[in-house]
Formats: sequence, C-alpha cells, structure tokens
Amino acid sequence: MAKPSFFITTPIYYVNARPHLGTAYSTVLCDVEARYRRATGYDVKFLTGMDEHGEKVAEAAAEHGMTPQEWCDSQAPFFEGLWRQLEISNDDFIRTTEQRQHDAVQHLWERMRESGYLYKGSYDGWYCVPEETYFTETQVTKSDEEHHSEGRHLCPDCGRPLERVREESYFFRLSAFQDRLLKLYDEHPGFVQPDFRMNEVRSFVEGGLQDLSVSRTGFDWGIPVPFDERHVTYVWFDALLNYMTAVGYGVGTPDAKAELAYRWPAQCHVVGKDIIRFHCVIWPAMLMAIGEELPEHVFAHGFLMVRNEETGQGEKMSKSRGNAIAPQDVIDLLGVEGYRYYFMTDVVPGEDGAISFSRMEQVYNADLANSWGNLVSRALNMSAKYFDGKTPVLADGWADEQSPLREIAQGIEGRYAKHMDRLEYVQAKDVVMELVHAANHYVEDSAPWAVAKDPARAGELAQIIASLLESIRICAHLLAPFMPTTSAEVLRRMGAGEEADTTDLASVCEWGRLAGGVEVTKGDALFPRIAPAKSGM
Ligand code: MSP
Repeated sequence: MAKPSFFITTPIYYVNARPHLGTAYSTVLCDVEARYRRATGYDVKFLTGMDEHGEKVAEAAAEHGMTPQEWCDSQAPFFEGLWRQLEISNDDFIRTTEQRQHDAVQHLWERMRESGYLYKGSYDGWYCVPEETYFTETQVTKSDEEHHSEGRHLCPDCGRPLERVREESYFFRLSAFQDRLLKLYDEHPGFVQPDFRMNEVRSFVEGGLQDLSVSRTGFDWGIPVPFDERHVTYVWFDALLNYMTAVGYGVGTPDAKAELAYRWPAQCHVVGKDIIRFHCVIWPAMLMAIGEELPEHVFAHGFLMVRNEETGQGEKMSKSRGNAIAPQDVIDLLGVEGYRYYFMTDVVPGEDGAISFSRMEQVYNADLANSWGNLVSRALNMSAKYFDGKTPVLADGWADEQSPLREIAQGIEGRYAKHMDRLEYVQAKDVVMELVHAANHYVEDSAPWAVAKDPARAGELAQIIASLLESIRICAHLLAPFMPTTSAEVLRRMGAGEEADTTDLASVCEWGRLAGGVEVTKGDALFPRIAPAKSGM
C-alpha cells in the first residue's frame, strides 16, 4: 500500500539577515515532526526555503552594494549551512527567485483574474518595510499616541517608522471572505493550533476584513504581474504560494499534477505567532478564491525571549539590547544534539519561552549528562563486563520477567505519539524521561554489581541487564527525532544499528525485541558534563 503523504513546511525566511535563533527554532521544530512522521510510516515532504523579494531584501542588498539577486545568492549558503549543521532533514529548499516560483506566481495571477476577486485601484496608506505589511491610517493612529514621534508614523506591531505609500495597485477582495473564513474556523477548530491561537484569529476576522493590496508599482524587486508588467507582486502574495509551488502548482504536466494531487493540501504549516494572520486569514482566502484545497493545520509557535537573570523576566532578543544569542554560541556550549534537545523540550512550542545559558546548562547536565548519557554508559559497561562484551542471552526468555521497567515501557509509544502528533514535545519528552529515570533507579535498586558476585543468580543478572538495554533501545528510538545522531549511535553501540531508520516506530518499540548475544561497544561519554563556569552566565 502506498504510504500516506505528510507535507510539512517552515516559513520561508527573509534574507535581509543571517539565520538566527528564532528562524532556527521554527526549522528545528519542523524537523522533529518530519523525523517523527518518517519513523511512523509517512512519506514526508519537509520544505523550507528563503523569501527573497520585497523592499526589505532590496534595501539590504543596496546597503551591501549588491544587486538583490547577488545579495540573495550570497546569503543562501548561510541558511543552508546552518540547516546542515543542525541536522535539518528538509527534502526541498525553495527560493522565491527560482523560475518555478516565478511561473507559479504568474499562474496564480491568471487564476485570480479569472476568479473575479481581483481589481485595480490605488493604495494610499502606510507600509512597514521590516514587516512587509500594510497599515491603514486608523490602525496607525489608533495604535498608540506615542507612536507619533517627530511627526513620524510608527508601526503598531514593531514600532519602527512607516513609509507612506501612494501608488497604483491591484487589490485582492479579502473582504468578501469573512463569512467563509468564520465558517472554516467553526467547522475545523483544529485548523489553527494550539487552540488558544484560534480565538485571536477569529476575533480578527470578526472585526471585519479590508481588501489587500497585492501588487506594488513603487519599486521593482518582485515577480511581475503577467498582464501588467509595471506591477510586481506584493511579497507576501508571492511568499505564501511557495508552499504550493514546491509541490508542482502551476506546472500543468501530468507528473506535476499527480504530485500536487498527492501532496496538497499540506498537513502542517509551522509558523511563528507574528505571521498567523498571513497564514490563517490571507492564505486560506487566497486558496478559496482560486478554488484550491486548504492546508490541514497551521501550528503557531511562540517567541524565544532571553531570560534576564536579575528580573527573571523574558526580554525580546535584539542586537541593540545586546542580549541576542547566536546559534553558534549555543552549539558551542551544548553541541548540536544538546541544542536541539534544549529548544525542543524546554520551551513549550505554543508559548513564548525564556531562554538562558544557565537554564541550558541545567537541562543538559540533568537530562542528558546525568540521566540519559549516564544510563547508556552504565548499561553498556555492565553488559560488556558481565556478558563478555555482548548483550545477555535470556535462557528463560522475557516471559516471566519481573522488571518494573517493562510496565513503564508497555504502551509508551502510544503515549508519546499522542503528544508528538500535536507537536507537544515537552510532554512527549516527559513520557520518555520517565522510563530513563526509572531505569536509572532500577540500576540502584537491583544492584547488578552485587548480583554478579553470586553465580547462582546469573539468570537474574541477565534479566536486569537485558531490561536496562531494552529500555535504552526503546528510548533511543523515541528520542531520535530530537537527537538523531545520538540515537543512531546508541543503537549502533548495542548492536541494533539497522533499526535506526525505522518506519514502524510502534513495532520497534515493543518490549522484548532486544537480540541476545550481540556484541556491544562501550564508547565515549555521549554527553560529557558541562562545568558550571563554561556557560559564562
Ligand atoms: N518571510 C516571512 C515568512 C513567509 S512564509 C510564507 C518571515 N520571515 S522571517 O525571517 O522574518 O521570520 C521567519 C520565522 O522566524 C517566523 O515564523 C518568526 O516567527 C520566526 N522568528 C523570528 N524571531 C523569532 C524569535 N525570537 N523566536 C521564535 N521565532 C521567531 O516572516
């Protein structure tokens, strides 16, 4: 039987700046889900990429004395390089300056024109270049009196100066979609996740929708409108379509049509909370206008904030505050696997999370060095020592085995999957760590070193060590989406390396599959402890 498709996407990132902790956060979040879905039998397409048009990127290029295209080309390696370093397993990397995006966007324009939801007018209002967003006079003045400093109008969202735009423009009749969007939210309450974000989206739409200017004539760094070449596509109208471009939209060949039918709609768009309106209001309305299916879910994550150690409060990360943390700083401290584990399991994905070096160090030492890493090294050492470098062979099988670990491990994959399905990584990690902690306690309680002294208890010793290894094998599988290299290494060390690329997680996590008499490798410490001074905070 053909595998079901699971199509998951990150936002495509503006190339005005290098990738940072925030963009890496969206990307790792998707990677964990993509890996988990591959392990549970889905045919995954994991898409990420770069958003290369728009004023912001054109300005960054000009500041660096390059053409926009040269600038984008110069930035691509920083994104692709960081994603390789962070073990991002994307299947595609889209750039909006590629020919496929050009063709798809022009196709969109034609469909929009036919739809009757497009009209020509003129835009007279405000524009925030850093956010690439339009604001009406009322939004600006309503937002905050303080935002009128020195006669300048400031963005109600980010507080930066707005640009006055008066130009001919095509408009998308977004206002016509209010009822259909509200119906969508009613009929598919899971469309926006986590649930509390839905209220925000719904009340925005209930407040009334304005038509959206979707072309610009004031500058030219964008995809031309096919029937009116003085206009270039508004960057968000272009960017949102990337999700469909990547699965064959607008190509029209039989293969591309088949790909589109198989892959679309996407199962999950992962986005930050700042771009929910684009994904939950404008994007579904665009798709409704051109008669395409809607994505199944939009998952909105919160923002990473830097924890101020004095006040205990989270602060926005920014260069001007001097509190920005570069991905490399965290990788230097925790290693790539520790990096992934920390952000994915210590920050609740739907909420804002206050991060700090001291917390990173604490989580790493407690969970990875002292618990998981320690368990693996103890169990492998004992297996090597007491069983001649091999996994124990159970003379009586597992049937009458009394291990308390077995009870915890039973059904663990189901409990974990319930959370992983909803990107509830903190809870999923808790399910796994329960077994890790229980296994460490079991080592103390069963005292294998004492049992080993009595030859009459050889069978008991084999049961203890086998239970530990079996727990480790299962935990390695469940931790693999978070720390793929470590899990593959743990499985290799215990002679179960061929299981690492499983597509049937539920089966490999069944208790009792551990092979006996297989050679084990002790290896170096997986997570050497971080000495407190190293973090510098
Ligand atoms: N180009 C648009 C997205 C177009 S998708 C069709 C864009 N790009 S972005 O580079 O500005 O941001 C991309 C993502 O990074 C957003 O999801 C945003 O929420 C996320 N983050 C940026 N800073 C962040 C934090 N400090 N914390 C967590 N994520 C944040 O928007």
